[in-house]
Amino acid sequence: MRQNALVAAVWLVAIALAGYERAAAGVTLSTASRWIVDESGNRVKLACVNWPSHLEPMLAEGLGKQPVDAIARDVAAMGFNCVRLTWPTFMVTNASYSSLTVAQSFQRLNLTESLAGIRVNNPAVVDLKLIDAFKTVVSSLGASNVMVILDNHVSKPGWCCGNNDGNGFFGDAFFDPDVWVDGLTKMATIFSGVPNVVGMSLRNELRGPRQNTADWYKYMQRGAEAVHAANSRVVVILSGLSFDNDLAFLNSRQVSVSFAGKVAFEVHWYGFSNGQEWRAGNANQVCARIAASVARRALYLLDQGWPVFLSEFGVDNRGGNVNDNRYYGCVAAVAADLDLDWALWTLQGSYYLREGVLGLDEVYGVLDWAWCKPRNDTALSRLNALQRPFRGSHSPPLPPATTLY
Ligand SMILES: *[C@@H]1O[C@H](CO)[C@@H](O)[C@H](O)[C@H]1NC(C)=O
Ligand SMILES: *[C@@H]1O[C@H](CO)[C@@H](O)[C@H](O)[C@H]1NC(C)=O
Ligand SMILES: *[C@@H]1O[C@H](CO)[C@@H](O)[C@H](O)[C@H]1NC(C)=O
Repeated sequence: MRQNALVAAVWLVAIALAGYERAAAGVTLSTASRWIVDESGNRVKLACVNWPSHLEPMLAEGLGKQPVDAIARDVAAMGFNCVRLTWPTFMVTNASYSSLTVAQSFQRLNLTESLAGIRVNNPAVVDLKLIDAFKTVVSSLGASNVMVILDNHVSKPGWCCGNNDGNGFFGDAFFDPDVWVDGLTKMATIFSGVPNVVGMSLRNELRGPRQNTADWYKYMQRGAEAVHAANSRVVVILSGLSFDNDLAFLNSRQVSVSFAGKVAFEVHWYGFSNGQEWRAGNANQVCARIAASVARRALYLLDQGWPVFLSEFGVDNRGGNVNDNRYYGCVAAVAADLDLDWALWTLQGSYYLREGVLGLDEVYGVLDWAWCKPRNDTALSRLNALQRPFRGSHSPPLPPATTLY
């Protein structure tokens, strides 16, 4: 009997895993009220990690450190079923960038050491055009059964985000709405036949002195239509104002597009979004107050029947940042309670070049500086607890997560 029970339990886990894996492969996603679902209406929970490819070199970070296939396998092995892969508009719209090969892009920035690392670890991408190297990363993730959300992060390649960096809002120095729509259309078209590309987020963290709701509706609706016309498979994800902290305005006016079942919203929530309030106050009181504020600004949309993707959150993985540690307990509780779809900031243990610093260490990265292993196993296992669905419409019940580890 014991043995039969064990066999049955193993089968249950195997069946659940098979469903989970199949969901990640070539699935077409849509929305059913607040849930993301597959073709059969079964819930697919997005448990993603951000992987930047929008900084000056315009190549997914880490390819100087490890082979792209090894990184993709690590993403899957750490329990993520999806990557929010960032890209800069100019990589596909501006010939001074789009014409470059990987080698030329790194040479122009004098990133000699990184380029040498890429030659060793990923020789096949060195002489590819940047967009073709980007496709290589996407297909490598596909081979590891990892879904991809293409995130338009900035226009001009570089670290994001400042109020006055020219990339913040429609009409800013580098943010011509026509060029943006052209870039979205190009990316949607290029990836229309690629099965693991399941979503596109239209623009990261709108912000700055020019931001206003009238232009938000005008251009976000236009961008959404352009993406859907070029690629009707992807879920179109819309971010809010004020660094993607604010979707409150949708309470008085809904978004209006010509298609249904393919629109989701995204929100960002960090410890530092509220300065040092976590460190300064009583953690329970601060959590109650700030969680209510995030609900008023964004998560209320769940109750109105829209998916809200927590597409950036994360902490200093070294464990010494009190503000971040207190915040994490709160954001994780909210993510579990509402069973949110989410994307951790972030995968990269280090950058080729960030804000002028070569090889900058990313303390929010799940991987270590060398992209070899998890930076902090404790932080990772805490995160693993959030990766499986807790509830959700149409979903068959899954065995408890403890069975699987
Ligand atoms: C192309 O890139 C250059 C250099 O960043 C920039 O000055 C220019 O405005 C861009 N052109 C267009 C059409 O976006
Ligand atoms: C790259 O190095 C050359 C030669 O030392 C220098 O002239 C150029 O300004 C450098 N470019 C960058 C982007 O650092
Ligand atoms: C890992 O994270 C935990 C929890 O925040 C922390 O206590 C610990 O010091 C961290 N360890 C390392 C090696 O950074």
